[in-house]
Amino acid sequence: MVQVRKATLSDIHHLLALEKLCFSSYYNESQCVSEIENCEVFVLNLDQRFCGYLSLKVLTSEAEIRRLAIHPEFRRKKLASYLLNYVEHELRKSQVSAVFLEVELTNEPARLLYEKAGFIPLAIRKNYYGWQRHALCMKKDLFPFA
Ligand SMILES: CC(C)(COP(=O)(O)OP(=O)(O)OC[C@H]1O[C@@H](n2cnc3c(N)ncnc32)[C@H](O)[C@@H]1OP(=O)(O)O)[C@@H](O)C(=O)NCCC(=O)NCCS
Repeated sequence: MVQVRKATLSDIHHLLALEKLCFSSYYNESQCVSEIENCEVFVLNLDQRFCGYLSLKVLTSEAEIRRLAIHPEFRRKKLASYLLNYVEHELRKSQVSAVFLEVELTNEPARLLYEKAGFIPLAIRKNYYGWQRHALCMKKDLFPFA
């Protein structure tokens, strides 16, 4: 069974382990603590196993997705799509009207995921992740027909 819940500090070791598996420039322990304390972090469990997480920052009517990761063993099962969809639903309930994110231009799985979820490319930020590592900025309107 898939469950989504808010992260607590007791999730730190899971977050750290997933960060190391999923990102070359991964968050260390204090960055993971800061993420949980200062952002909104949603955890996805499948049959009570920690499979992924999404963190975001909400600034009044807009939100920014900062991190999204699914454990490699559980990829291509639509879990990231489920988590995104869940979070968008929560944001709509809080009247957040748009979500922004940056994704590395070469990260095709993530780019395709976001495109499929309805995110639109906005701009390219050159060298955002380091030398020759460019970011694609994307946006999704949560109330497109309002
Ligand atoms: C990107 C990531 C979150 C996708 O998670 P996931 O649970 O496997 O994604 P989903 O199963 O929901 O995939 C939805 C769609 O995204 C695209 N997609 C996801 N992974 C893909 C891959 N490896 N290759 C091509 N397309 C992919 C596909 O269009 C897919 O739909 P489909 O399976 O019907 O073809 C996961 O690969 C991950 O954690 N990557 C490392 C961390 C990362 O890059 N995070 C994003 C930072 S912005």
